[in-house]
Amino acid sequence: MAADATATNSTPYLSEPIREKIRAFIPRYPNKRAVTLPALHIVHEHFRCVPFGAMKEIAEILEIAPAEVHDTMSFYGFFPQAPIGDVRVWICRSISCMLTGGEEMLAHACKKLGVTSGQTTPDGKITLEFAECLGICDFAPAALSDDGRIFGPLTPATTDDMIEVLKQGPVADSPITPVIGRQ
Ligand code: FES
Repeated sequence: MAADATATNSTPYLSEPIREKIRAFIPRYPNKRAVTLPALHIVHEHFRCVPFGAMKEIAEILEIAPAEVHDTMSFYGFFPQAPIGDVRVWICRSISCMLTGGEEMLAHACKKLGVTSGQTTPDGKITLEFAECLGICDFAPAALSDDGRIFGPLTPATTDDMIEVLKQGPVADSPITPVIGRQ
């Protein structure tokens, strides 16, 4: 379960231990701005998102404008601003996957979960997103969950199986072979 991604005017988002973790990166980089990406990962790891307030506090620590932190966030597209589901899964729509039905499998999964791409199921279990090449083209059309599980090749049936597996929550030790599809 992610930490509470809320804060009041008097309570900062980032606790002292989180701030300390971010500051610890500063001597390793040529300037504070270069710590933006590690800082985003630290905050994301804690909250499973980077709320607007936390983004401002990262900017304060690194002595840069909040817009610069936002630019990095939006460039990578990995850091949601609102809390996400227990498991985040990306279905690839790049060329190898597109040619083998990736977009159809994304549409199928959206329909099955009752969400559009980028949304989280009402029970908070799964966030479904599209992605560009996930680097697992051998399993096209392929999907990857944020706990490291690979799914593919996806068909309507294996996409349904993937969803059932994901509903059970994240796993600590992900196998490196696909858990659904070709074994
Ligand atoms: S094109 Fe989909 S994983 Fe590479």
